Amino acid sequence: MTAQRIDGKALAARLQETVAARTAGLGATQGLRPGLAVVLVGSDPASQVYVRSKRRRTAEAGMQSFAHELPEDTGEAALLELIARLNTDPAVHGVLVQLPLPAHIDPMRVLAAIDPAKDVDGFHVVNAGRLATGQPGLVPCTPLGCMMLLRERHADLSGLHAVVLGRSNIVGKPMAQLLLAENCTVTVVHSRSRDLPMLCRQADILVAAVGRPELVRGDWIRPGATVIDVGINRVVRPDGTARLIGDVAFDEAAAVAGAITPVPGGVGPMTIACLLANTLIASCRQAG
Ligand code: GUN
Repeated sequence: MTAQRIDGKALAARLQETVAARTAGLGATQGLRPGLAVVLVGSDPASQVYVRSKRRRTAEAGMQSFAHELPEDTGEAALLELIARLNTDPAVHGVLVQLPLPAHIDPMRVLAAIDPAKDVDGFHVVNAGRLATGQPGLVPCTPLGCMMLLRERHADLSGLHAVVLGRSNIVGKPMAQLLLAENCTVTVVHSRSRDLPMLCRQADILVAAVGRPELVRGDWIRPGATVIDVGINRVVRPDGTARLIGDVAFDEAAAVAGAITPVPGGVGPMTIACLLANTLIASCRQAG
């Protein structure tokens, strides 16, 4: 391996420490304790793992964690009612509804019901619009974490060609906006793009966020490029045990790239640390 390994676990731990220290300071100086409500509908096993981890880390940062677990057959109206209550609860500064939702619930209607000031996921159209137009709002956690990881390698991103592989509302689109704001030349490519390997080889910075295990091979990488792997794919080995792998074939890519994030231990830990940072920001703004 020749590439620098960008350690998301260590960076996330430092960010969480900073957030915890500021949270303690808010309590001491203003009597303010940031609160995050995490709502889970149904019992998707992966979502349960993510939600538990978000709650644990919230408490570790000294914030108040509000857990709402609703059964799979919860109606959309009942979920909207809960969100309306959380929107007006002064102890709740952040509201997160874990996705995906059961098929009978319209996620767009649910996300639109969250007060944009409490939308710590940054998924509300108001926050997406603010990001697209360069106004301060709340920024989606995973792309925010990716930008922090990129800054470990690049003090200045200006003029670099960034290729974002994936066009989801959660990662690909906001990632492209953040890179544009840093003066990158941005290309968004996706499953219908022609000649993905050729397009990816143009990248000084490659962000892979397609959810396809090891889709990106070593010969897709430009020598010296920085590779950010957002994929968290659970694959089961022949002996029945499971492991997590990214969207990038790590060993092949690390032989060519200048820097690369591992899976696990790259983007994943940054997402939750950024969620805590967003909750802190939201609580400070709401306190005026
Ligand atoms: N499901 C997968 N990623 C996310 C995320 O970042 N936020 C929420 N709310 N749900 C998700």
